[in-house]
Amino acid sequence: MSENTSAQMAESIVAGSREEHTALAAELLARAVQSAVDERGVARVALSGGSTPSDTYRHLAGLTLPWSKIEWYLVDERAGDPLGERSNYAAAARDLDLIRADRGKIFRMASESPDLAAAARDYEALLRRTFGIAGAVSFDVMTMGIGDDGHTASLFPGLGVVGIDDRLVAAIPEQPEKKLEARITLTAPVIQEARLVVMIVRGEGKRAPAAAARHAGSEEEIPARLLQRAKGRVVWVLDKEAAG
Ligand code: 6PG
Repeated sequence: MSENTSAQMAESIVAGSREEHTALAAELLARAVQSAVDERGVARVALSGGSTPSDTYRHLAGLTLPWSKIEWYLVDERAGDPLGERSNYAAAARDLDLIRADRGKIFRMASESPDLAAAARDYEALLRRTFGIAGAVSFDVMTMGIGDDGHTASLFPGLGVVGIDDRLVAAIPEQPEKKLEARITLTAPVIQEARLVVMIVRGEGKRAPAAAARHAGSEEEIPARLLQRAKGRVVWVLDKEAAG
């Protein structure tokens, strides 16, 4: 089932079950990868972390894709051991079975660095080299989620970080009151440049932030509103609980 309202430019798909939710999101990713490879010979995919996309990544891992033509990047990363439990890189590599199955290259963010600002600059330099120094950093597809507080990527509310527009990649300070470690994240201008953003959102707790993100208002309050200014296609893949 799908819905579209004129107030939101984004598309929304509401899945009837967890299996359908997983399959729909994976199918969107698979199609975007295939058409990027058909058109440009390479698919550049940026992956978000968190718990929700895990099923989608595992499902995708079972599909037939031009794996060797895919370059994987991270949307954001949590400071700490790159092989640890909190690592978005480790989770994505595991779920997609990237290393053992040799499925394209994955470019991780240096979460172990004592200087995350330097690690963010290094990742930005990598993106500039990859996409071409004079070209836009336009990912073919990006997966994203939303937090209960309206954050997306590691662009959290109340930190003044959703407005960063002078860098492609930024270091985000730790937030001890939320028990959150420091982060490295792609910034809003890069997210808004993606050809396709697949928002993978599930559960009742996401209903209010997902609705707020698709209505006008302050981006500082609900950073996921940055998607309202996306240049590419944005598809919200919701389950019934998140759709309300
Ligand atoms: C991260 C993310 C983050 C995530 C949301 C939703 O590293 O935490 O990339 O932006 O997408 O927090 O996370 P859940 O899927 O765990 O709810």
